[in-house]
Amino acid sequence: MHLHKYEKIWLIFGVTCLVVFLSIVGVSAFTNDHHSPAGGIQQIDPEKVRETAPFNEPGVKQLDEDTYQATIIAMAFGYEPQDLKVPAGKEIIFKVASTDVVHSFTIDNTNVNMMVVPGQVTTKSYTFDKPGKYLILCNEYCGTGHHYMFTEIEVTE
Ligand code: CUA
Repeated sequence: MHLHKYEKIWLIFGVTCLVVFLSIVGVSAFTNDHHSPAGGIQQIDPEKVRETAPFNEPGVKQLDEDTYQATIIAMAFGYEPQDLKVPAGKEIIFKVASTDVVHSFTIDNTNVNMMVVPGQVTTKSYTFDKPGKYLILCNEYCGTGHHYMFTEIEVTE
């Protein structure tokens, strides 16, 4: 079979497009996958928050020498656990999930102010410069107990 010169060119062009397209799809799938633990949206079943890692063990955990993870459950009307303690000068990765409605996770005197939407894991990294006690409060109206929804985090030297 003899292919016309132009048919050959079009065939090569078509195959090239396909390869380019597939590699873009492949690369973006890979990068999305690669980035999701750091900043993307992580899904979580609000009814199964307490059974889903890391929320099955809420609290502060050291990840490495300079990094800590604080896993916090937000619910009407409070945060869990209550006794949060983290060191100053280290990166704290906050992971927050709601078991019911939309709340916020706001740390007074910092730029940490995140909406906590049920169904999603909210992640934010923050480093406290100064030790002390910081107020954590809810900025999203979430029901009759909204004004009582707060806790404290202790930042140690
Ligand atoms: Cu939770 Cu307002």
